[in-house]
Amino acid sequence: MEFMPFCSTEICFTTLKGLQTKLLSLNAKYLTVIANDSAVKRWNLQGLLKQLAENYDLTWINHVSANPTQWDLITALEQIETPPDLVIALGGGSVIDLAKGISALYDPKRGYSYEEITHAIRNKLYLKKDHFIKIIAIPSTAGTGSEVTSWATIWDGDKQSKYSIDAPGLKPTLALIVPELTLTASANLTLCTGLDALSHAVEAYWSKHTNPLVQELAYRAVELILGNLRTGIKRPDDLAVRELLCRGSVLAGLAFSQTRTTACHSISYPLTMLYDIPHGLAAAMTLDPVSRMNEGHYPNDDRLMALFADYGGISGWINQVCTGIVHLKLSTFGITTGYLHQIVKRAFTGERMDNNPVELTQDDVMAILKTVL
Ligand SMILES: [Fe+2]
Repeated sequence: MEFMPFCSTEICFTTLKGLQTKLLSLNAKYLTVIANDSAVKRWNLQGLLKQLAENYDLTWINHVSANPTQWDLITALEQIETPPDLVIALGGGSVIDLAKGISALYDPKRGYSYEEITHAIRNKLYLKKDHFIKIIAIPSTAGTGSEVTSWATIWDGDKQSKYSIDAPGLKPTLALIVPELTLTASANLTLCTGLDALSHAVEAYWSKHTNPLVQELAYRAVELILGNLRTGIKRPDDLAVRELLCRGSVLAGLAFSQTRTTACHSISYPLTMLYDIPHGLAAAMTLDPVSRMNEGHYPNDDRLMALFADYGGISGWINQVCTGIVHLKLSTFGITTGYLHQIVKRAFTGERMDNNPVELTQDDVMAILKTVL
């Protein structure tokens, strides 16, 4: 048996001031920073970027699309002129995923065609590299968990499939959690990311690869998110609540870093790729029907479900937290019965669907989707 550390990422909860101190004292010469220009302005971090440019040889990648594709990866890679000692990802899941893509696929010889990048991702050519560029992840949302996982999602530019870049060396060496950064998240973003974190926790809890420690982490993550997401949306300036949501997100990340996700995430990918449903909403949409199919097929299911009981079950809690923001149904996003067949066909992602405690058939997935139409 190969022994792996539970988590090789150093995780620090800190403040904006602490973030500044840490980033200005790194043992590095060449830095690549990925942070959207608009977000840097929103967080008032222009001064920090200026200081980083004075202290290091800095490449700042200042535009990252949501759900990055091979095109976004190529655009980012072409901006890097000198091999970086570190990649710093400051932003949401897409920013951290792009950092992992750079770490995996950066080639000092440069020159990246769409076909080459696609081939390298599909065939996992990056696994032959002798080292990856180290990553510091600074999540600006309470949801992604990418700061403690070793994989990233790259979305196919041709909308045919979604790719996973996955290697132990892609796990960030340092995760700096700054709850203040989440204060500017809108109600919609807070909801989408909170539901993503909830899905990570619930799916880790019932995954085929769960274990007692994962269940404890996931349980506490669910408890924190259930108890605080609605308040975080209603009182966006409440730093104490934002900090609790960050804790929930990191705990969920740690839990699913051991197990990966299951049917809900697997079904979510075509919903996002084909119909632009935000990732967290797409994942959480099927939590309730999948939980009914999984019931009785994973350890301590009653303990997990008891957390939702006060809210009228998973769907009851989701309805409450989504009130006034989104009606969490497929029809909200223009999906009608006629589209379900192609969603079902694309809903089976290996290493996700395979982790579900119950093996689902295409008919099962069709039935799940019809309950949330
Ligand atoms: Fe997710």
